[in-house]
Amino acid sequence: MIALETLAGGARGGTLYGIGVGPGDVRYLTLRAAGLVRSVDTIAFFAKRGQPGNARRIVAPLLAPDQAELRLEYPVTEEIPAEHPDYQEKIGAFYRTTAAALADVLNSGKSVGLLAEGDPFFYGSFMHMWRRLASAFPVEVVPGVTGMSGCWTRANLPITWGNDTLAVLPGTLGEQQLVDRLRLTDAAVIMKVGRNLRKVRRAVEQAGLLSRAVYVERGTMDDERILPLAECGEPRGAYFAMVLIPGEGRRL
Ligand SMILES: C[S@@+](CC[C@H](N)C(=O)[O-])C[C@H]1O[C@@H](n2cnc3c(N)ncnc32)[C@H](O)[C@@H]1O
Repeated sequence: MIALETLAGGARGGTLYGIGVGPGDVRYLTLRAAGLVRSVDTIAFFAKRGQPGNARRIVAPLLAPDQAELRLEYPVTEEIPAEHPDYQEKIGAFYRTTAAALADVLNSGKSVGLLAEGDPFFYGSFMHMWRRLASAFPVEVVPGVTGMSGCWTRANLPITWGNDTLAVLPGTLGEQQLVDRLRLTDAAVIMKVGRNLRKVRRAVEQAGLLSRAVYVERGTMDDERILPLAECGEPRGAYFAMVLIPGEGRRL
């Protein structure tokens, strides 16, 4: 049983749409996502302080000049590790106020399209709004092409063959945890590489997988970068970066 911190909604509240906008290239939006971006009353999006917001940037070509927008600016992102109590307190308070702000718009009868980079239910901030609002308002979640499928497609890397297992690992795990998980899987996607790049590289090397690992930064976006992890010497990666290790299963 999941305990939901819900906010009260009127019987006729507007609908909240969680719109998956795909990994970066606007052409990877689904028809449903593109239709909603053009038709909802308000477009809401998360953004880092001082940045335009990646999901909003993806759909920018579809937005009307007079589109109502609600910018939801994170108080912190990568400056403090997510396990730190300060991070949890600040982000927890931010999600509570943000859910209340969305509830206000929905209570006025307006629809809100909350943009989510990739897929909304896959490591998405949207989920923190969904758990607070889904029992009080009508909600529709529109799936999106995930960052990882965009990245393995652009890197030309079929990821799983035959009976290959695939592990999706956050780069925020400890080094030994990463090594242990990597040793148990055939194929892997390591997300949230950013400032964990050095640790991730060491873990991949210890698991004996460096020769197969590929680093993809901003996959499908204009400034995409793809290179073998072994050639990636920088101390930290971009926020939108992942490491892909393709399986070597049955080829017929
Ligand atoms: C908070 S998660 C969001 C995942 C997203 N909901 C999805 O479906 O892919 C952010 C992480 O996703 C990964 N990511 C998402 N899109 C990416 C892209 N286009 N290129 C590289 N990494 C990406 C990065 O590892 C980034 O740190």
